[in-house]
Amino acid sequence: MRVVIQDNYEKMSLWAARYIAAKINAHQGSRPFVLGLPTGSSPIGVYRELARMNRAGEVSFANVVTFNMDEYLGLPHEHDQSYWYFMHENFFDHLVDMKPENINILNGMTDDPEGECARYEEKIRSYGGIDLFMGGIGVDGHIAFNEPYTSLNSRTGVRNLTTDTRIVNSRFFGNDPEKVPAQALSVGVGTVTDSKEVLILINGHNKARALAATVEGGVSHKWTCSALQLHNAAIIACDEAACGELTVDTYKYFLDIERNERL
Ligand code: GLP
Repeated sequence: MRVVIQDNYEKMSLWAARYIAAKINAHQGSRPFVLGLPTGSSPIGVYRELARMNRAGEVSFANVVTFNMDEYLGLPHEHDQSYWYFMHENFFDHLVDMKPENINILNGMTDDPEGECARYEEKIRSYGGIDLFMGGIGVDGHIAFNEPYTSLNSRTGVRNLTTDTRIVNSRFFGNDPEKVPAQALSVGVGTVTDSKEVLILINGHNKARALAATVEGGVSHKWTCSALQLHNAAIIACDEAACGELTVDTYKYFLDIERNERL
């Protein structure tokens, strides 16, 4: 696992955006580049920079297919807290050459949640899997909506949200946890770790415990993000603030081995 420590959120975002753009630009062949994407506040800086690069002609999304991580069950596209809405507002609407038919987001209004999830998983497979899955992390270490004790081998499916997560996410729902949907559709931990590469953004003091569990803890379904330890191409991009619970030695180790990396 690589842990790329940047001074602050802005630098972490620029680093991650450039990394993703470089991967898209290096991609060759007729098959599209398949990119997994998250929502949340963590990726907003990355989306802003990728959109800027796209408008400046530094990266094209014409041959990119995207799959989003998750979606609340029961929220229509036009709901301003649906992840469909978030992705268009914060990213897709700012790209000049993203093809709408290449955007995949789980349908939170489906009558058949299980079927929707099975089809999503199958569609990912039909493209030959995900080349790079970018993600965020919950304060309890959840990746996508895979709460503590979700199987590390899980696939796309329906997830019940914990009270903790509903409280944390209530900041977008008028601070009322009851307004946060109780269920979501989510890719599984296994769906994420099946990807050729995984890039997880971890920023801010409130993620310090989760970062320490991901990097220094044992592999455990208690912290679903810890599954990344078994992936051979996982990167954590983080800021200084999120490093507060790492041991000094771990912190120094990663600064040391990353020192000569360009990206
Ligand atoms: C939600 C999403 C996760 C995301 C997490 C963290 O629960 N389902 O995919 O990683 O929030 O969000 P934020 O980046 O706003 O801290």
